Amino acid sequence: MENKINELLNQQINFEFYSAYLYLAMSTYFSEINMDGFAKFMKNQAKEELEHAQKIYDYLLLRNEKITYQRIEAPDTDWVNAQDVLDEAIEHEKMISSKIHELYKTAKEKDDFATMNFLNWFVEEQLEEEEKFRILQEKIKAFDECSCTLEAMDRELNKDQ
Ligand SMILES: [Fe+2]
Ligand SMILES: [Fe+2]
Repeated sequence: MENKINELLNQQINFEFYSAYLYLAMSTYFSEINMDGFAKFMKNQAKEELEHAQKIYDYLLLRNEKITYQRIEAPDTDWVNAQDVLDEAIEHEKMISSKIHELYKTAKEKDDFATMNFLNWFVEEQLEEEEKFRILQEKIKAFDECSCTLEAMDRELNKDQ
């Protein structure tokens, strides 16, 4: 594997751990304001991000590649309401998608077909994640004026999971 690809994959492990950290912090925020459904949703997202990190880790091991550890940033937690949290989550997912695309582009340039194939799963997964957050974000936006509806949404999410 080319050095650049190894470097980007290791960096991606760090991004996935950071994503888990960010969503766990968002879950904490929702717990603190007694929105348990949203808290559960975010906690599940955090778990998924850990699985993404694990997937890349396993791939590097499979390729007998070096795994490097980097500091995981602390997320900013100064959200003012649910919409604010979802806005940040969706921006974050878009950023992650662009990182995956950058990785894919590099793998393509280096003719690393195995990595391209591996990344296909992530390309698809990012579409789903962006969509999942976008739907929640739009619902929150639509109900912005009425906190009673937000509470109903929270109950729905709590039931779903
Ligand atoms: Fe992820
Ligand atoms: Fe994600």
